[in-house]
Amino acid sequence: MATNDQVIITKDLTKEYRMGEVGVVALREVSLAVERGEFLAVTGPSGSGKSTLLNLIGTLDTPTAGRVVVDGVEVSALRGNQLADFRRERIGFVFQLFNLIPVLTALENVMLPLIPYQRGLKFNLKERAQELLKTVGLSERAHHLPGQLSGGEQQRVAIARALVNTPRLILADEPTGNVDSKAGAGIMALLRRLNGERGVSVVLVTHNEALAGEADRVVRLRDGRVENE
Ligand SMILES: Nc1ncnc2c1ncn2[C@@H]1O[C@H](COP(=O)(O)OP(=O)(O)OP(=O)(O)O)[C@@H](O)[C@H]1O
Ligand SMILES: [Mg+2]
Repeated sequence: MATNDQVIITKDLTKEYRMGEVGVVALREVSLAVERGEFLAVTGPSGSGKSTLLNLIGTLDTPTAGRVVVDGVEVSALRGNQLADFRRERIGFVFQLFNLIPVLTALENVMLPLIPYQRGLKFNLKERAQELLKTVGLSERAHHLPGQLSGGEQQRVAIARALVNTPRLILADEPTGNVDSKAGAGIMALLRRLNGERGVSVVLVTHNEALAGEADRVVRLRDGRVENE
């Protein structure tokens, strides 16, 4: 498999969840490649395997069969600490429910992923976090708690947090699912801008066909399989 121009390669990726006697096959032999710098949208009905696919790519879950190569690294070969390091160094996650820490300010939330490693960093973490809040248009909200921000603003904080490790890849699972359509359009525009200006590859899971249409390419899942390419 060539990997230089591709930030993600999956080969016959399969995930079966075992629930006692019964198995649920969430993903069936999904093979796809994402080019470096590409903005890919993944759509499909509820239960079609979108989050499963994203979690396998992001090493939050392990496949039952098949392979995942991210940024040239065969992730199925990584274990324990290697996995955590890999995620921290290369991937930015954005989730539907923002997952901000309620008792920390916007600024602290952005800093959080790197706080345990702060002493070894070659840059000032607080300054970087401030810069990222500026990038997402929230300089004025740095000292607000998540509960003092709108949904769209919270998601922009989450995007700034995803960028704190300067990832080559952003994996976003329904990032507009809990905000109104105007805020959703703003989040999409922000992701597009990060993709265009910084060359960050983006995989965006969304139910929203209009937003998916703004991506470079759309992959549709149905019953755990790729419907088209
Ligand atoms: N931890 C789990 N244990 C058992 N089954 C699971 C688990 N996670 C997901 N599934 C099942 O796998 C299938 C795919 O789930 P997945 O979350 O990937 O769907 P999705 O496309 O993201 O759906 P939605 O649009 O509702 O978020 C579903 O049938 C789901 O019930
Ligand atoms: Mg999902």
